[in-house]
Amino acid sequence: SITRRYIFNVNLTNVTRLCHRKSIVTVNGQFPGPPIVAREGDRLLVKVINHSPYNLTLHWHGLRQLRNGWADGPAYITQCPIRPGQSYVYNFTVAGQRGTLWWHAHASWLRATIYGAIVILPKLGTPYPFPKPHREVPLILGEWWNADPESIISQALRTGGGPNVSDAYTINGLPGPLYNCSAKDVFRMKVRPGRTYLLRLVNAALNEDLFFAVAGHNLTVVEADAVYVKPFVTETLMITPGQTTNVLLHTRPAFPNATFLIAAGPYVTGAGTFDGSVTAGLLQYLPPPPPPGSSSSPVIPIKKLRLFKPSLPSFNDTSFVTAFNSRFRSLRSSEFQSNKVPLTVDRHFFFTVGLGTAPCPANRTCQGPNGAKFAAAVNNISFILPATALLQAHFTGNGRLKGVYDGDFPSRPLVPFNYTGPPPKNTLVSAATKVVELPFNTSVELVMQDTSILSAESHPLHLHGFNFFVVGQGFGNFDPNKDPADYNLVDPVERNTVSVPAGGWLAVRFLADNPGVWFMHCHLEVHTSWGLRMAWTVKDGPLPGQKLLPPPPDLPKC
Ligand code: C2O
Repeated sequence: SITRRYIFNVNLTNVTRLCHRKSIVTVNGQFPGPPIVAREGDRLLVKVINHSPYNLTLHWHGLRQLRNGWADGPAYITQCPIRPGQSYVYNFTVAGQRGTLWWHAHASWLRATIYGAIVILPKLGTPYPFPKPHREVPLILGEWWNADPESIISQALRTGGGPNVSDAYTINGLPGPLYNCSAKDVFRMKVRPGRTYLLRLVNAALNEDLFFAVAGHNLTVVEADAVYVKPFVTETLMITPGQTTNVLLHTRPAFPNATFLIAAGPYVTGAGTFDGSVTAGLLQYLPPPPPPGSSSSPVIPIKKLRLFKPSLPSFNDTSFVTAFNSRFRSLRSSEFQSNKVPLTVDRHFFFTVGLGTAPCPANRTCQGPNGAKFAAAVNNISFILPATALLQAHFTGNGRLKGVYDGDFPSRPLVPFNYTGPPPKNTLVSAATKVVELPFNTSVELVMQDTSILSAESHPLHLHGFNFFVVGQGFGNFDPNKDPADYNLVDPVERNTVSVPAGGWLAVRFLADNPGVWFMHCHLEVHTSWGLRMAWTVKDGPLPGQKLLPPPPDLPKC
């Protein structure tokens, strides 16, 4: 293994999409940002120099950061932001993981434009557990706003209302030909017949679950969140914000001059609607080589191509999504699993996750439901970010005594109710900074239950520092006397981001073997902003290799 160094200059850069030219925050002037390519076992030193006017941090989504939360990145959880003019070196090792992950800004809504792929290749000489692809292509799905995402969220939080939705979905930053004023901003992938390509898919959208398909081609899913899965074939994927999925695409034996649309469009639950917005790119079969002596083949304008379009499921097709999600099974082979699913449980947690409202502050009018403001909570707690980083408070002794956080995050809702039925009169939500405190190596079972207080909605829950094993899911209210009998403890998929189904529940297990402070939140950015977030602290273990490392000298101060 080697050390790889990257310099990330964060700048304002002018970019034009949908005929809107605007200044966006980028890394090294690139949108999406530069990919990071490493091998399992490598050390990465990423120097982030902040030339932008924003306080920011970067997060390496899905990398476990063993004993090294200092490099994890969520603002006010593991570090204070890098202020304008400052820099910070993220210093971490890629241990025991290989596959596709991604990096993104982790302060406010800056990840709208600050994101890129992380490609972790297996150790030299270690093959993939699937046929070697001819080429590998990162495909990052995202969202484009004509307005400034930072002012959208600050306005939504000020008025208590819902933020505007984006103006387009994108593939590698490009909306594609189905949008007005976007004929030139099209992702193109040129392929040859009879070959195998590996698509490394990332859902970097701020606020949207997305379906994905390639017209005329099946996709073989081989990996999810940098863990190999038992391969399965599908026409369409659903990928939730935060997730990564690797698929193999086999091109047809002979199809000269044909072009197929690569398309992604939203999966909508709850009160959301769908405006028909679909991003598309082109899968273009290269024509046969020109006969010797003639000049090279001309570029064909889009209007003249033979275009094949895929059909995506209808925007609210929850039964497709449920069936699709239940097909993921980990490749049960010890060399490919970073952990083993815990068979016994030390501590059980039952978390309600969902949207609600909070009273409008005095002397204000709020634009949320019934004059209140939107809020979101886990077990009646709408989490508030502290003014200093939790990890520093935890490391320097007792964060609780210093008043930075409380250690009594509830392990179940204050008062049980019919989670998927009509809501109770008082949802007892309070705003607080509370964490769960776990001894080292605690085996945790967590059931996450969606609530229909405002409307049943699917929530992509992301855990930093660990992968979850998904042992069960279902609709309606979780039944602790019945549902655990159906858990899959044989080959559950291992992921860092899981989709809690709309009007249902999801059960996961993980082993708390990584000392530090670890954020968990909905990866729909607006839900996080409303408080659907919390943190776990894991104490040091007794042995030297079980303790949180000391902070690096350049760690930003608040
Ligand atoms: Cu991808 Cu806490 O984030």
